Amino acid sequence: MPSSLPLSAHLQAHQSPADYPLHPLLANRWSPRAFADEAISSNQVGSILEAARWSASCFNAQPWRLLVGHTTQSPETYDKIFNTLVEFNQTWCKPVPLLILAVARTTFPHNGKPNPHAWHDVGLATTSMMIQAQAMGIYSHSMAGFDAEAAYDAFAIPRNEYEPVAVTAFGYPALPDALTDDGMKDSETAPRVRQPLGEMAFANHFGQPFSGCFT
Ligand SMILES: Cc1cc2nc3c(=O)[nH]c(=O)nc-3n(C[C@H](O)[C@H](O)[C@H](O)COP(=O)(O)O)c2cc1C
Repeated sequence: MPSSLPLSAHLQAHQSPADYPLHPLLANRWSPRAFADEAISSNQVGSILEAARWSASCFNAQPWRLLVGHTTQSPETYDKIFNTLVEFNQTWCKPVPLLILAVARTTFPHNGKPNPHAWHDVGLATTSMMIQAQAMGIYSHSMAGFDAEAAYDAFAIPRNEYEPVAVTAFGYPALPDALTDDGMKDSETAPRVRQPLGEMAFANHFGQPFSGCFT
């Protein structure tokens, strides 16, 4: 796909080529690396955080803790999160206006026992933030490429009960030309790929494709 396509065509070309109808919020979500140097308002950040707050969780433990790096409201936090990113991610994250570091509380508040579902629930909360952002025209891109040890130190995260999980970038998308790295430009226009449903949806026993609605 030539990068001279207007932005709307570029985004449309990334819609999930789904076998079954998908809600547009899901079909339109993808993880760009080219972001516009454009601010996100405090109200929009509020909506993104509210989406996490109302996410489901085991025992309603709400194990997500979110360090919010907003270029205008919390620039120091932004810089600290940015500094934990690996160089590859820093390269494309520079124009991103919002970085959220998600941290899991690894114990249940009601009994102090380990919460083995904490990471699952942090993932749910992150998905909620992504979809709320998508509804506002804001794209997102999660990253495991960050230094968790540096995050513990930068934010004095209590080590006995909390674990940094991932950083997610939120911002308005841009054309691939916005990227300086040629390899990243190429991957920005690559087709999105997924394994077939039959390799992930099973019935009868593990590994046997569920064939109720697809062949
Ligand atoms: C937990 C997690 C960690 C990821 N880490 C990185 C990362 O460090 N750098 C990066 O460029 N993309 C990262 N990604 C983005 C994935 O590569 C991307 O979601 C995947 O290729 C599917 O593409 P899509 O989100 O556009 O559908 C990560 C995604 C997730 C969910």
